[in-house]
Amino acid sequence: MKFFVDTADTADIADLAATGLLDGVTTNPSLIAKSGRDFLEVTREICALVDGPVSAEVVALDHEGMMREAEILRKIASNVCIKVPLTVDGLKTCKKLTGDGTMVNVTLCFSANQALLAAKAGATFISPFIGRHDDNGFDGLDLIRDMRLIYDNYAFGTEILAASIRHPVHVLECAKIGADVMTAPPAVIRQLFKHVLTDKGIEGFLADWAKTGQSL
Ligand code: E4P
Repeated sequence: MKFFVDTADTADIADLAATGLLDGVTTNPSLIAKSGRDFLEVTREICALVDGPVSAEVVALDHEGMMREAEILRKIASNVCIKVPLTVDGLKTCKKLTGDGTMVNVTLCFSANQALLAAKAGATFISPFIGRHDDNGFDGLDLIRDMRLIYDNYAFGTEILAASIRHPVHVLECAKIGADVMTAPPAVIRQLFKHVLTDKGIEGFLADWAKTGQSL
């Protein structure tokens, strides 16, 4: 399973990239606004911090506008992945861009039929929003299950990028279902490392080591 971090905070990205476990980054207009940085400038900086795909989202709603913005964004770096919304114009743009060899992440997916359309449009990644789906009384993980089944039925190459992840159990369940990628906020990724018994075990080992009077 690939791990992407969902943020435009370059300090967090650099810190997680240093673990060697980070495969990419996703951003969206809300995360760019939260960073307080210039969109193109911060995206350029992020692209230099990781080798993998960096999703940068268009804000136009029409195909021509999306293509114009994608042209600007894809010039930033070779690892830019253009993020488009799951709309008719978004999928039209996806088909055109992937046909030209550009990576595309289709975002704001809330149904398996939408995911089927994105795969047919040649999307590189499809982003089902689990947390927001849960918030609205649906089961986000059921959506991932249905998508996995459909994509496997037809051997679609589109990668399922589980998004809007809120906690480690989301990550665990997505991994069990077989999502190709998950993107989570930095805090959730950091939580994955933690276990109370790991901390307790280290504490015990260090206490016993101190008793030996040895050093390395
Ligand atoms: C994914 O690409 C999105 O940026 C993200 O996961 C949205 O998550 P949220 O529902 O926590 O805003």
